[in-house]
Amino acid sequence: MNANPLIADLRREYTLAGLRRAELESDPMLQFHKWFRQALDAKLSEPNAMTLATADKTGQPSARIVLLKGADERGFIFFTNYESRKGHELAQNPHAALVFFWPELERQICIAGAISKVSREESATYFNSRPKGSRIAAWTSSQSEAIADRAVLEKRLEQLNAKHPGEEVPLPSYWGGYCVAPNRIEFWQGRPNRLHDRFCYYKQPNQSWLIERLSP
Ligand SMILES: Cc1cc2nc3c(=O)[nH]c(=O)nc-3n(C[C@H](O)[C@H](O)[C@H](O)COP(=O)(O)O)c2cc1C
Repeated sequence: MNANPLIADLRREYTLAGLRRAELESDPMLQFHKWFRQALDAKLSEPNAMTLATADKTGQPSARIVLLKGADERGFIFFTNYESRKGHELAQNPHAALVFFWPELERQICIAGAISKVSREESATYFNSRPKGSRIAAWTSSQSEAIADRAVLEKRLEQLNAKHPGEEVPLPSYWGGYCVAPNRIEFWQGRPNRLHDRFCYYKQPNQSWLIERLSP
């Protein structure tokens, strides 16, 4: 079968900027924050949306978008349902990869590392900061399970709103945060003629970071 030209002919040149070794921060989290600030300044739509890749114990991968909710010396934090597909995979295989793609800046950041749950206190603090609709939704949805139709969700939502008429909605035991502690972070800047700039930080046994330029 030939490639579909409507798809195959889509391509663009990346001309906005370059990335040089001399301008990199020595700590990749500082470099991440520098780029994230630039993404905010560029008013990107949902710059904190990232692809999260997980794999089950047989190595079968799966990926989806989640929202980054924190990035600090521990790593990259997001929140989800611990009993979702991703939650089950992470229980079997506590390693994950994250990808940010910011086309307006011609940038990609690829992260990999070990994953662990954040404390219940941290999950509760974030959960309680969410609008009531989102907190109720965490109770409404058995994330990733098959359901008969939308009416099932709407009925559950109605029952839960009746059960929690005020602002208070407790944190479900199966809902909370994860932190990806990076052992590798790559910054990618698109360049003309596919000669992109790629720099990868690798965590060393003594906790310092080795930086290497990668071939595009
Ligand atoms: C922009 C965007 C943001 C999302 N943010 C989250 C999130 O922060 N947490 C989450 O559990 N799901 C989020 N989702 C939904 C997930 O992509 C996914 O459908 C859900 O987590 C179930 O994934 P799973 O069945 O692979 O576990 C988001 C989806 C999109 C498109």
